[in-house]
Amino acid sequence: MKRREFITLVGVGTATPLIISACTPKASQPVSNAVRSDGFQEVGTLTELGKNQQILRENLGNSQQKALIIPNPTDNNQLIAVNPTCTHAGCTVTWESEKQVFICPCHDSQFSSDGKVIEGPATEPLASYEAKSEGDAILVKIS
Ligand code: FES
Repeated sequence: MKRREFITLVGVGTATPLIISACTPKASQPVSNAVRSDGFQEVGTLTELGKNQQILRENLGNSQQKALIIPNPTDNNQLIAVNPTCTHAGCTVTWESEKQVFICPCHDSQFSSDGKVIEGPATEPLASYEAKSEGDAILVKIS
């Protein structure tokens, strides 16, 4: 279907926002931006983590930090959360589950699952956060 045919079909009016809204990707569970009184914040679900093997969230906590959450490779009942901002020059690392390392796409620094430097040029570890689950919800405490 050509774009003009699609626009003609859906029209321009009150139905359009509903259709656009229905096509927008959504998290599998609602994620609250609120920081709880115990300092934890909901960042996703175990269902989502099981599907994607990592969850990246931004603008967390009062300091608007990023968090990358992975299953602990040595104990899948535990979670690991790190600040994915590479300590070399600030790029965002990703989790390579097959190699079990965080890899920086900019200059190939590698970090172990607990954030320690395996290979530079980075020399400082990734910051880590406390993480836990409650039911299906994943919670991280941004400090
Ligand atoms: S910014 Fe990550 S290795 Fe350079």
